[in-house]
Amino acid sequence: MAASEGEQTVSATFDVFRYQPGKDAAPRFQRYTLDLAPHTPVLSALLQIRADLDPSLTLRYSCRSAICGSCAMRVNSKSRLACETQVGPEIERHGRIVVEPMRNQSVLRDLVVDQEPFWRQYDAIEPHLILDPRHPMPEGKETAMTPAQVERFQETPRCIACAACYSACPAVEADPSFPGPMALAKLYRFVVDPRDTAQQDRLLRIQPGGLWTCLRCHLCTEACPKDVRPSERIRDLKEMAIRVQGGTENGSRHAIGFKENIRERGVLSEAKLVRQTSGVAGMIGQLGQGVRIYRKKPEILKSPPKIEGLDEVRKIYEALDRKEEDAT
Ligand code: FES
Repeated sequence: MAASEGEQTVSATFDVFRYQPGKDAAPRFQRYTLDLAPHTPVLSALLQIRADLDPSLTLRYSCRSAICGSCAMRVNSKSRLACETQVGPEIERHGRIVVEPMRNQSVLRDLVVDQEPFWRQYDAIEPHLILDPRHPMPEGKETAMTPAQVERFQETPRCIACAACYSACPAVEADPSFPGPMALAKLYRFVVDPRDTAQQDRLLRIQPGGLWTCLRCHLCTEACPKDVRPSERIRDLKEMAIRVQGGTENGSRHAIGFKENIRERGVLSEAKLVRQTSGVAGMIGQLGQGVRIYRKKPEILKSPPKIEGLDEVRKIYEALDRKEEDAT
């Protein structure tokens, strides 16, 4: 974006990922330098590079207004929308702008990735209302919801499916069968919708290998340009899954055990948590690892003493229990 008269410009160095699978032997970074107004969006700078310096640069975009979600890419290692990321602050902070395609999706060319896995996961959660066929919606009439019911999923409709959260998610990287933050946030939207009749079934189906793979790192929430806060929605789904089914998975048993463990002494007893999560049979399976840990840090396997001020901790727990009761 050209600077207006009298406006200062910055000399911006871009290192842009280039790769054409099947043609290039390996990915590389290509350097371009432009003088730009500091408020120039990274997307506009890339389009200027393509128009003036290198017509072969391939990228995806549409609205240029943070609406369509097409221009998500990594800018200085963060997954974000290129059309709302300004050049000036990036140069100030990092000295240059490294532009890469999103992660967790294979590169089709340069900054364009194959989003098929992202959309497959979205499709798998059945992102639509599931109604009881015996009670169809009355034709021609609205099904009114209370403001409080609508409030519960007010954030998820803001999602523009840019996949920045999916790109930032280390759980997807470790296990590509994990649905990813966007699909789970969308699932939440239907689980809390009072018109949907499949809430329990949705929670039941998502648990094995799905919900509990989330690492609670919150990188998805940091990456989301629309403040959908997917990690909070995943946390809500986990709480609901425990309420409906109790500890049926290692993940849910770990969450329940962690909570009760701290309630007891005010500090975590790690050896006990392993038993609470995996059971005695699971502990036997982890015996080798347990022996290695014991050799390095023997105190970790002992029950820690109760902390001072345990009464205060228990008061917090009682308040949380009351809140939970109110929510059910
Ligand atoms: S081009 Fe549409 S969100 Fe950036």
